Amino acid sequence: TVFKNPKEASINVAHRIAKIIKTKQENNLKAVLGLATGATPIAVYSELVRLHKEEGLSFKNVVTFNLDEYYPMLPTAAQSYVSFMNENLFDHIDIDKANVHIPDGTLKLEDIPAFCLAYERKIEEYGGLDMQILGIGRTGHIGFNEPGSAPNSGTRLVTLDDLTRRDAARDFGGKSFVPTKAITMGIGTIFKAREIVLMAWNTKKASIIKKAVEGEMSSDVPATYLQLSENVEFILDEDAASLL
Ligand code: GLP
Repeated sequence: TVFKNPKEASINVAHRIAKIIKTKQENNLKAVLGLATGATPIAVYSELVRLHKEEGLSFKNVVTFNLDEYYPMLPTAAQSYVSFMNENLFDHIDIDKANVHIPDGTLKLEDIPAFCLAYERKIEEYGGLDMQILGIGRTGHIGFNEPGSAPNSGTRLVTLDDLTRRDAARDFGGKSFVPTKAITMGIGTIFKAREIVLMAWNTKKASIIKKAVEGEMSSDVPATYLQLSENVEFILDEDAASLL
């Protein structure tokens, strides 16, 4: 679906999320959301905050699982995805912080496999993700599933692509300060969500969007695996869709 601009697109996605939350509330159920970081979803989160403050949307029944976190990473660091989520969403809504899940960037290496299995299990225990929102990296990564990721991959420790680290350099004050690794949900984890919404804005995403939507399916561009899913929607602005 192509929208005129990122703002209209973001409001549409936020309202879809709000609808899931309200429908679940009416049935006394929890809404289980898969969340993403990066510049792309910021306006979705600000609209959700607005709905909370101005229209009384409650997040008391919401459980969240974030896609990824850098490794190693202290949650208190300015660049952590924990800080990002707190600043852009969690600190401004009535979510119970016990319902918030973000991969732990402070684990000992040897404890990561067990943590990742438990992360997958917890998503299952809550009945699976009602909706997973995604951005896309210029390598075609979703979450931090870089080129080479398998379509059935689970939550795991990965090595970041050089281009991904270059794109993150601004946040860290230089590429050499960007962690070389991350913990990410797998493509298989993302696929289990009942709805997947991938968002992209701006011309700088146009060429990767063309590859993801129209290119041959390949682990070279992990987002092409989304072509296999019946439950995925790409939400684009006109610029990101300009090469389609
Ligand atoms: C990071 C995140 C991804 C995100 C990507 C694009 O790599 N791990 O989840 O999609 O950045 O970021 P942006 O939305 O800032 O372009």
